[in-house]
Amino acid sequence: MVQKIGVIGAGQMGNGIAHVAALAGYDVVMTDVDDARAEAGLDTIRANMDRQVRKEKITDQAFRDAMGRLRVGSTMALFDGADLVIEAASEKEELKKAILRELCPHLGAEAIIATNTSSIPITRLASSTDRPEKFIGMHFMNPVPVMKLVELIRGIATSEETYKIARAFTDRLGKDSASAEDFPGFIVNRILLPMINEAIYTLYEGVGSVEAIDTAMKLGANHPMGPLQLADFIGLDTCLSIMQVLHEGLADSKYRPCPLLVKYVEAGWVGRKVGRGFYDYR
Ligand code: CAA
Repeated sequence: MVQKIGVIGAGQMGNGIAHVAALAGYDVVMTDVDDARAEAGLDTIRANMDRQVRKEKITDQAFRDAMGRLRVGSTMALFDGADLVIEAASEKEELKKAILRELCPHLGAEAIIATNTSSIPITRLASSTDRPEKFIGMHFMNPVPVMKLVELIRGIATSEETYKIARAFTDRLGKDSASAEDFPGFIVNRILLPMINEAIYTLYEGVGSVEAIDTAMKLGANHPMGPLQLADFIGLDTCLSIMQVLHEGLADSKYRPCPLLVKYVEAGWVGRKVGRGFYDYR
């Protein structure tokens, strides 16, 4: 019986996962590298739930109950007694592995660990834990409270029981799951990121302006956001790391990250979270 959920990382994915888990009735602990960041994640959850109350998606009582089920902090000791811990730290393999190594001694033998990685192989991350059979990929989409999908990715050693528990948890969150094999980018990012990368090439080669490219895809292909706006929303640093994983993992030049994407990341213009990407949000 899964009741206590841990979430590592209070950024846009972590706080979204904590948000939906608390609303679904789970006890949730969310951590980040320091208390200030963890508290900032909690503030984001409060603001997003408040918006849901105003739009009458949830009741005021559900909001208050969910906030009462959430705790935040900066130490792994908070995960004591957790049934499922979801790692949602930055998309850097060495960082995720270090976190997983630090996490394991704090967990009971039955606890399951999931990673929200958007592209790093599950089998490789599992090898940094003491429980590869109880390790699985649960890839949430951004913004988590709105998007219906969770990709479930089994590593080579993931047990059927672990998969069933992750699936039942996804169901209780009110989300649908799609099962993907452990190949670079899984399903969503294998398809979505080359589209975004191609949009950046389209800009780089002067085929269209930022506005023209986004308008073309919004109105011409019925996408809710244009690809460059979506890249800013995901984070250009995350887009670049996913393209690098596809490029290296599939060894095909068609996945070469656009030099303009690399340049923006080098400039620190990584999108909405810093106020500047293909658009200026300041
Ligand atoms: N929390 C709670 N509710 C939120 C929210 C959040 N963080 N963000 C948006 N919403 C709600 C709004 O309140 C609004 O609710 P109603 O429909 O009840 O009015 C609804 O979502 C739509 O929001 P807005 O009206 O503010 O704006 P919008 O209509 O432009 O929609 C969007 C925003 C849902 C983000 C939409 O533009 C969209 O679907 N964009 C594409 C998102 C996408 O493709 N995500 C996947 C990215 S890929 C990924 O995540 C994987 C990866 O590894 C990179």
